[in-house]
Amino acid sequence: MLAGSPKSAKLPTFSAPPGGALSDDMLAAFHASGVLVLDSFVSVSECASLKARALKLVDDFDLRDVKSVFSTTDQTQLDDRYFIESGDKICFFLEKDAFDSTGNLRQAKENSLNKMGHAMHDLDPVFDRFSRTPALAEIAKRIGFDDPAIIQSMYIFKPPRIGGEVVCHQDSTYIYTEPESCVGFWFALEDATIDNGCMHFIPGGHRLPLKQRNRRVSETELSTDVLDAEPWPEHLKLPAEAKAGTLVIFNGRAPHLSGPNRSDKSRHAYTLHVIDRACHYPPENWLQRSPDLPLRGFV
Ligand code: FE2
Repeated sequence: MLAGSPKSAKLPTFSAPPGGALSDDMLAAFHASGVLVLDSFVSVSECASLKARALKLVDDFDLRDVKSVFSTTDQTQLDDRYFIESGDKICFFLEKDAFDSTGNLRQAKENSLNKMGHAMHDLDPVFDRFSRTPALAEIAKRIGFDDPAIIQSMYIFKPPRIGGEVVCHQDSTYIYTEPESCVGFWFALEDATIDNGCMHFIPGGHRLPLKQRNRRVSETELSTDVLDAEPWPEHLKLPAEAKAGTLVIFNGRAPHLSGPNRSDKSRHAYTLHVIDRACHYPPENWLQRSPDLPLRGFV
């Protein structure tokens, strides 16, 4: 059982250490909570550069090529070849409410997208540089990776007014290794607040069982096995409000969620998921990469 959180409780938050040299206190907090918030890990100008690059990629793609909506509430991506084949590409996924009843976008293209993924870190030079820094390599080493590999990148738009809810989940459900090794690195590129749908975590929830396992059952179909039907203790969740430049690191078992964005402000974020190459990566995981794009770590 998890202990209840007093109203004043806060996720473990520190100023980003120089060079990613996590202190013993930071490591202890990460291992106890399953999540660690590091303020000012990257500069506001680095955030702005990554955002500008993302918007250029958005500008360059043709909306007619996008056939996919990403929704954790409707699970539309469970039958979606475009999504299943996106692990080694740069693909675009629309918000569920992007279109009005006449089939036209309600908002500008960049304010209609849910996310872009899942291999910008290997295919785009600006994302590559942002994703591979000595400080990130040092963090990965200090949290226990022997041979880290960046398996996935996602640019999350969380657009104003229509940004979709993300229901409580564990990322190891989707990025499963044996033994489990997934860790998420989440960068706030814009200020994330309760108002614009910041992430929430259940501190200590990484000690709960893995509740679901997502599997690829065919080239066009995914399924989710329920391993533990016990509901999440969501009353224990704490917000991860974050200024642009904040890095949140979280265990692949750490339960997290985010509310819808009904505000007038977008909440852009960038996420990397890292696994240890020493662990077995099952062929039934949805995300598979071409041998032409081998996994790389932080260097
Ligand atoms: Fe997640």
